[in-house]
Amino acid sequence: MDSIRIMLAAFSADDRKFISGLLTDEALRVVSSFRPDNDGLKKASAQPADVLLIGTRAKPEQELDFAERMFTTRSDITIILLAPMLESKLLERAMECGISRVIDINSSEQDVCTHIMTAANRDQNRRFSKQKIASYDSKVVVCYSPKGGVGKTTLAVNLAYALATMNKKVALIDLSLQFGEVGVFLDIPKGDTIADMVEEHSLELSTIKSYLIRHQSGIQVMLSSSAPEYAELIRPEHVDAILSSLRTEFDYVFVDMAVTMGDCAIAAIETADTILLVVNEDIASLHDAKRSVKVLEALNQQDKVKLVVNKDGISTITTKNVANLLEATPVLVIPYDLKAAMLAVNRGIPMLSCAPKSKASKEIRDYARSLTRRV
Ligand SMILES: Nc1ncnc2c1ncn2[C@@H]1O[C@H](COP(=O)(O)OP(=O)(O)O)[C@@H](O)[C@H]1O
Ligand SMILES: [Mg+2]
Repeated sequence: MDSIRIMLAAFSADDRKFISGLLTDEALRVVSSFRPDNDGLKKASAQPADVLLIGTRAKPEQELDFAERMFTTRSDITIILLAPMLESKLLERAMECGISRVIDINSSEQDVCTHIMTAANRDQNRRFSKQKIASYDSKVVVCYSPKGGVGKTTLAVNLAYALATMNKKVALIDLSLQFGEVGVFLDIPKGDTIADMVEEHSLELSTIKSYLIRHQSGIQVMLSSSAPEYAELIRPEHVDAILSSLRTEFDYVFVDMAVTMGDCAIAAIETADTILLVVNEDIASLHDAKRSVKVLEALNQQDKVKLVVNKDGISTITTKNVANLLEATPVLVIPYDLKAAMLAVNRGIPMLSCAPKSKASKEIRDYARSLTRRV
């Protein structure tokens, strides 16, 4: 990208001036500047640009509505909000409005510029690489849920295991960056981690592959950081690079996710072919799932979402209730089997290996087989 063309939208002339003053990097070029109102909407719809930068030094309100309206009309631009640090509810709303990145307006000039450039470059690379990605057969499958304990790791580990034992080339990336448990589930107590890889400053395929640990089943595992404080070393660019590179070599790349929808999670979700949204039959889990579907819609990722019900039979809520509430038919329903699940975790052996006859194992195996038929 030669220079990044920015449309700057802020209500007060003072804010517009202040924000222009922050854009000191010569790669950033303001091509128009206006108020985020109806007139602004007209201007922003017609203006060739790469980024819409909406700014305010107060709490954003109408700014978010403006972002939402722009998001539905222009899929070719990156929408960025520059505002004082937002509380999590507002952040969630910002994401629902299609804002790619929220930058603290009180950051240094250099930080503001870097964040804008990273977000814009990332979006553009992604748009360019879409076609390239479509030509690979492999599948990047993300196991996601906004709630902990529903069975994301169980699902990721066992699907990966099932496919590895069907002679598929499988990678499993633990993107539960702070408290990853893939190593526990597969009895890999220690080894190189994603944080170690990032510190190498090389994102070549050969480097990435050298940080994979081979499990005896054949799964190639990338462990999450060994301590929560290392998690922040990992940036969305790293996630993009890992997944885009590995998909050229592996039949399947599974990603075990954390509950938070940060930049790295969004990068994984946007690169994925399939998002397995894991829910349990309890109200809290379903409520959270419904909200996360909205966020995925805002990110324009809804077509990739497939519903997985885990721990079926644990309550009076039925899979039919779940399907009605989430308006989706589950692709996989895994029965509740505490004995098999506990045995697996305690021994560090996939459930499919230590309890192959369990109905839960059978359902996961059947689903894995159906994936191979679809490729
Ligand atoms: N189908 C199941 N039946 C019974 N227990 C299960 C089942 N699936 C997962 N579990 C257990 O639930 C707990 C949470 O699962 P986990 O995969 O770690 O969830 P998450 O990754 O979403 O936090 C674990 O103790 C796991 O053994
Ligand atoms: Mg987990």
